[in-house]
Amino acid sequence: MGKLEGRVAIVTGGAGVIGTAYCKGFAREGAAVVVADMADPSDLVDELKAAGHRAMAVKVDISDVTSTEAMAKAALDEFGRIDVLVNNAAFFKSVTRGPFEEIPVEEWDRTMAVNVRGPWLCCRAVLPAMKNQGHGRIINISSNVVWKGVPGFLHYTTSKSALVGFTRAMAREVGEFGITVNNVAPDFIPDEALRAHQPGNEDAVNAQRAIKRTSVPEDMVGTVLYLSSDDASFVTGQAILVNGGSFMY
Ligand SMILES: NC(=O)c1ccc[n+]([C@@H]2O[C@H](COP(=O)([O-])OP(=O)(O)OC[C@H]3O[C@@H](n4cnc5c(N)ncnc54)[C@H](O)[C@@H]3O)[C@@H](O)[C@H]2O)c1
Repeated sequence: MGKLEGRVAIVTGGAGVIGTAYCKGFAREGAAVVVADMADPSDLVDELKAAGHRAMAVKVDISDVTSTEAMAKAALDEFGRIDVLVNNAAFFKSVTRGPFEEIPVEEWDRTMAVNVRGPWLCCRAVLPAMKNQGHGRIINISSNVVWKGVPGFLHYTTSKSALVGFTRAMAREVGEFGITVNNVAPDFIPDEALRAHQPGNEDAVNAQRAIKRTSVPEDMVGTVLYLSSDDASFVTGQAILVNGGSFMY
């Protein structure tokens, strides 16, 4: 029997590169998976269902209040509960890189709307269900750029930094309802788009690591599943850096 049998997990950005790995991990552990994304997640959902798992696709824009409420309602209508929310969707791969003073103001606002308002709206949307159940697991995906102070995309780094304080303060607000809130920070996990967007970064980051190899989406899954499980019921307000030792704190 899986660690998350009978649980229901929403993964925002579930159709993305790392989101897909989370969704497959939840399914493997017996949870029903709500693959929530602005992009069409039906291919992944079809694959999960064909393998005998419970899954559904929800199209959502996490920066929009109505859309996030509809996401939570769709999950409840289909599966009757919401145990886990992984706030993984982000405006990320197409952010403008360059000096902070050249970031377009509209792009700064969009980054905050998706990467900060988005997780807040998603938390708001699932809170009533988690409170009723007396059980919930919220995992906010930030980034190692927060701890490393990576320059060159200040709007992105700032938005991911916001999730650290968000996680800590919210953990204190919802602990009494049996809800934990934690933060998981991936390091550089390149696909072809990122290799093109940030040339040279893969070798540079690999060289910083204690474990000197490229990080892959599957590296993230165990930590997220652990934080979603009963094993982590006394772990809240924390940040876990999954980075092969590139930065230690
Ligand atoms: N890949 C890395 O190197 C890396 C490093 C550190 C942190 N992260 C974080 O990990 C998470 C996943 O990254 P990834 O590499 O899989 O990126 P990705 O671009 O492959 O996936 C992100 C997903 O979010 C979705 N999305 C974007 N805006 C949305 C919105 N408004 N509403 C709903 N869905 C939306 C996209 O459609 C996409 O499927 C992100 O939060 C990212 O910031 C990634």
